[in-house]
Amino acid sequence: MISLPGLQDADVKGKRVFVRCDFDARLSERSTINNQQLTIVDDTRLVSCVSTIEYLLENNCSVIAAGHLRRPEGWDIKYSLTPIANWFAQQFDSQIRETEMNGFKGWEIKRNFYILENLRFYKEEKENGLEFAQKLASLAEIYVNEAFGSSHRAHASIIGIPKILPHFAGFHFTKEIKVLSTVLENPKRPLTIIIGGAKMETKLPIVAKMQGIADHILIGGKLTDQDRDLIEEEKAKSQRAEIIIASLNEEGTDIASESFMGFENIISKSGMVVWNGPMGYLEGGFEDTTLNLAKAIINSDCYKIAGGGDTVAFLNKHKLFDKFGFVSMGGGAMLELLSGIKLPGLAALEA
Ligand code: 3PG
Repeated sequence: MISLPGLQDADVKGKRVFVRCDFDARLSERSTINNQQLTIVDDTRLVSCVSTIEYLLENNCSVIAAGHLRRPEGWDIKYSLTPIANWFAQQFDSQIRETEMNGFKGWEIKRNFYILENLRFYKEEKENGLEFAQKLASLAEIYVNEAFGSSHRAHASIIGIPKILPHFAGFHFTKEIKVLSTVLENPKRPLTIIIGGAKMETKLPIVAKMQGIADHILIGGKLTDQDRDLIEEEKAKSQRAEIIIASLNEEGTDIASESFMGFENIISKSGMVVWNGPMGYLEGGFEDTTLNLAKAIINSDCYKIAGGGDTVAFLNKHKLFDKFGFVSMGGGAMLELLSGIKLPGLAALEA
């Protein structure tokens, strides 16, 4: 059983607290006359940070919240956290004011609550630069990880700062670990893992780990020929799991209906289903199979878990969020944890 130092046990009163948050919310791009702006279409990840931030503010802490948005190369204003800062200002009924702290640009959301600009604007974040982590750590006396969805990344704000400051898991992070470690230790069988969507380079290595744990691994979404070859290699080695790769429809916009029917049959007989990633090209409006997949999971008697930014946004859009036993903020992070990999962010909190 994973046991973490939780925020409820920390002496935080009046302290300066650095909170690493899951700010990587789902956004849609819309063109404006002069530049492009991103608008929030699903705020579930932001909501997941609120109780920790409120608790700290109630305890007279000064909160420095930070996180990342997407994968910018350098300082790219398109991926500014401005929409995130505005969202929090709305939550706290306040107005943002630009500020700078120890050279870090950001915003004052309200008295004692600050948000830093996208940490991935600094290359040292991904490189886990020591000086960068020290500079961030110097802003606070305590570190809290409330970014489960990013805790599979060995980045400065995930593993560097907790080496320097006393560290604790935020309220939502603690809940993620509690639920997911039960699944990891005692899954209901047959256990079916469904993987789709983007970021296949993060997810495919998990297939290798999962094939000794899961009973079925169902893979959909758009895969390159190289991805398919890699999965075929894993299939040949599989000790336990039956691995099935969906075929695409003729247009290449969604998985084929025969593949979906095969998935549906397995889902109906599963004891537990873990789902991450859409089957079809959602941005292009090809939602049908993903919606049918969600419904197939809901109609099964299995214990239902879903996770990941796009999947969470999809469930919210179709008002299906509450039909799942647990919805994780992590996509890659959830799959890695459930495949038995020690998440760097988790290890950093345990140390
Ligand atoms: C996610 O959406 O899975 C997290 O924000 C991590 O993002 P990354 O894959 O770009 O590290």
